[in-house]
Amino acid sequence: MELHISKNPRAVAEDFATFLVDLNKNSDKLNIALSGGSTPQLLFDVLAADYKKAIDWSKMHFYWGDERCVPPTDKDSNYGMAKAHLFDKVGIPEANIHRILGENEPRQEAQRHSHEIKKNVTSSDGLPRFDLVILGLGTDGHTASIFPDQMELLKATETCVVATHPESGQKRISLSGSVINNAKSIAFLVTGESKQPKVREILKHRGKFRTYPASHIKPANGVLYWFLDEAASA
Ligand code: 6PG
Repeated sequence: MELHISKNPRAVAEDFATFLVDLNKNSDKLNIALSGGSTPQLLFDVLAADYKKAIDWSKMHFYWGDERCVPPTDKDSNYGMAKAHLFDKVGIPEANIHRILGENEPRQEAQRHSHEIKKNVTSSDGLPRFDLVILGLGTDGHTASIFPDQMELLKATETCVVATHPESGQKRISLSGSVINNAKSIAFLVTGESKQPKVREILKHRGKFRTYPASHIKPANGVLYWFLDEAASA
């Protein structure tokens, strides 16, 4: 596990962007699963503003760790946020964007998207193996859309699973824990004081850390990174 602690969210975004530039330089093609939620927005803005030329975007194929079951134009759409803050600004080939169709019936879409991933992402040990999976952390210890009351999704053998947000009841489509843990690299991108209690329990194996899905993210044969700001890592 590699721990990166930076002063503030912008410094975390800069540090992560540098990490992506290196990965991009040393690879012919990268299959990357993006995290959702609000934290990646600053990273996308920094990439679009300061790293547009430093990255060969034609090498990058983008997927998501999870998506909310809403249309792409909805304010909750993870795809919609990435499109507005990154794709539209750096010009990524449409064929390189592998969107989860949140507007479709969740179970059917989970199956359809699983096929798309299996067709395009090289497998190892019988499961798709992403080059990088970027994850966030919820204040309840969830990651992707694997919530504490749905821990079985960590061991699910499907590539994509359907989940339900415990408070809002919103349907989600998520990569299963098995596929996430099969990645070459997994990077948590976590900022802000509100995340500090769970970060502390998870990294120090304290308290109820076993009940948090994020604690069970351990690459079977890869590297785990935590990119944190000082507030989240205090
Ligand atoms: C989602 C996510 C989810 C997110 C965390 C943190 O679609 O909501 O993928 O796992 O990463 O909830 O969200 P914030 O970055 O908004 O704090």
